[in-house]
Amino acid sequence: MKAEPQLALELAGIKMNSPLMAASGCYGYGFEYAGWIDLRDWGAIVLQGTTLEPRQGNPPPRLAETPSGMLNAVGLQNPGIDYFLREVRPRLGELGCPVIANIAGESVEQYRELAAILDGVGEICAVEINISCPNVRCGGISFGRDPAVVERLVSAVRRVYRGPVIVKLSLEAGDLAAVGRAAESAGADVLSLINTLKGMVIDTACRRPFLGNVTGGLSGPAIRPVAVRAVWEMAGAVAIPLIGMGGITTLDDALQFILAGATAVAIGTANFLNPHVARDIKTGLRRYLDREGLHHYSELIGAAGSALHRR
Ligand SMILES: Cc1cc2nc3c(=O)[nH]c(=O)nc-3n(C[C@H](O)[C@H](O)[C@H](O)COP(=O)(O)O)c2cc1C
Repeated sequence: MKAEPQLALELAGIKMNSPLMAASGCYGYGFEYAGWIDLRDWGAIVLQGTTLEPRQGNPPPRLAETPSGMLNAVGLQNPGIDYFLREVRPRLGELGCPVIANIAGESVEQYRELAAILDGVGEICAVEINISCPNVRCGGISFGRDPAVVERLVSAVRRVYRGPVIVKLSLEAGDLAAVGRAAESAGADVLSLINTLKGMVIDTACRRPFLGNVTGGLSGPAIRPVAVRAVWEMAGAVAIPLIGMGGITTLDDALQFILAGATAVAIGTANFLNPHVARDIKTGLRRYLDREGLHHYSELIGAAGSALHRR
């Protein structure tokens, strides 16, 4: 009998049954979906961003539909780490798949403090450091632009967090490869990219910016080609594994990121349109591997050729 193609992997020690991950901020704390989605379709779920103190987020409107995508200016609204530990942590076991925390702060010290708190939390198997949010005034992308700052921040987290550290990058970091290498040399285990891209919609009837925050982060298929390019370039710049994301909606989209060099892929905005997207892509990936005579999806990682080889 022919063996089923395999999707399981270990990403920096995180045991995942498939390379499909729910992207931060697009899947709440996961258990909101538990009653109607089989969460084991996810290789891992990245929780919405958590900060030390509760955050109200930005004023409404916070969402705007755009061609092949959307702008959001949620602004890291969340109830803070104390609530997380008290109310969210006890429920994370319900998810049945690896859970990754996503953290954000307004100073290196805040990132360090959050990582130190999460170091003792067994329900969390890794932290993802968001240094790429375009929707907050302090912190966010301002940390992700400068390789020296990235190195300092990641080192600070690395010193206090013993599990896998994932660093989430934005294309807005001018020299993306330099930022990736800084994170890698400071001890990051994995890089994830890309976060949303800063954009703006103007309400022509009112002649005013549409979003309450004026600008927002663009996500969805509109950003996919630039995200694939970013992953492809990063694959040629660092040796650590990559999580690729930005507009993944179909199997073909996910394959593009894997062929560009991503070991895993994360899906955000597509969940709002198709809550079964993980199941659909997972089924499609198995069929594709079967059809192509491949035994393990990892045979496809970076198969499009690395940026270094092309230079
Ligand atoms: C509504 C919304 C909220 C988000 N919140 C976070 C967040 O808290 N932390 C983070 O690192 N990324 C956050 N992101 C970025 C996504 O995780 C992802 O990087 C981005 O949306 C690109 O993927 P997509 O096109 O599949 O959505 C958010 C995105 C959206 C649309």
